[in-house]
Amino acid sequence: MSKIILTGDRPTGRLHIGHYAGSLRGRVELQNSGEYDKIYIMIADAQALTDNADNPERVRQNVIEVALDYLSVGLDPTKSTLFIQSQISELTELTFYYMNLVTVSRLQRNPTVKNEIQLRNFETSIPVGFFTYPISQAADITFCKATVVPVGEDQLPMIEQTKEIVHKFNAIYAPENPVLIEPKALLPQAEACKRLPGTDGKAKMSKSLGNCIYLTDSDKEVKAKIMSMYTDPLHLQVSDPGHLEGNTVFTYLDAFARDEHFERYCPEYANLEEMKAHYTKGGLGDVKVKKLLINIMQEVLEPIRMRRAQFETDIPEVYNILKKGSDAAREVAAQTLSEVKSAMKIDYFEDAELIKAQSALYAK
Ligand code: TRP
Repeated sequence: MSKIILTGDRPTGRLHIGHYAGSLRGRVELQNSGEYDKIYIMIADAQALTDNADNPERVRQNVIEVALDYLSVGLDPTKSTLFIQSQISELTELTFYYMNLVTVSRLQRNPTVKNEIQLRNFETSIPVGFFTYPISQAADITFCKATVVPVGEDQLPMIEQTKEIVHKFNAIYAPENPVLIEPKALLPQAEACKRLPGTDGKAKMSKSLGNCIYLTDSDKEVKAKIMSMYTDPLHLQVSDPGHLEGNTVFTYLDAFARDEHFERYCPEYANLEEMKAHYTKGGLGDVKVKKLLINIMQEVLEPIRMRRAQFETDIPEVYNILKKGSDAAREVAAQTLSEVKSAMKIDYFEDAELIKAQSALYAK
């Protein structure tokens, strides 16, 4: 069986280092591992519109931002198919048929949807499109018969829902010759990468909280944000023992520091473990830890900024990449849709047997 990856993001804002640690870095590694037959990376603009129906300009603007972020972290259009969800009309058709396989109560139980409804104060007026986006996400994942979906933890209920749809579809329409493939989720390995907190120590990086470090932040902005980061409120004097639990600077180091960084920027410690030991014992100040983090983040972000600057000089080429990717995705989606329709017995004009059989029936 082919190994196929699909994943994507809603274009509602620029991507930040939480996205990088949690998914982008891993995607680039998967891409460059050469272990996958196909990799699809989707800009989920149609999904973004399910809760931004009144703000199409926001979505449109962020499509190009996210595309630039993708290219700048090293997603390579010669190896990965980058495409825009709304350009694949077959996805809406698949969604429509999958809707018959999902109950309202099942959607209501989806924890991610539940949570998002609360966050958006949708309780009394949930747009139907938003409510059903897990079904459209199943279409996203199945159109290319993805086997692996690299995502964050919050997306696990979507993969679960997709698996149920695939199972039901195959059981009803294609019991002998399964048409759809059940995907597996792939989570980031390191705990710190699963959900990088905001610079203020709050659970999540979010644009509205103003606690993000963006991939596009300048050297100076990154420095200022890290210097004002939340650490350990009990660590007042350098000599005080420090705490690592909930200490955002150390969480970021967990996500980004490698041993060679210590050699380069902080040679008195061999690795993060030694630095942590000193910090908890007392005698290590926050500023020194923050300076290390600044150096590491600059090293991570600099090549990303350079690649972005390069792509920014040729925006038509970025759109061209997305167009080519969308054309390629569409071809694959058309093939799957035709298999789906034929399994569902709605392929009237492609089925020569049908016409023959009906003729025979009426010939008498
Ligand atoms: N729901 C994802 C997010 O909010 C975006 C997305 C849409 C997606 N379709 C997908 C992710 C399919 C993985 C697979 O970021």
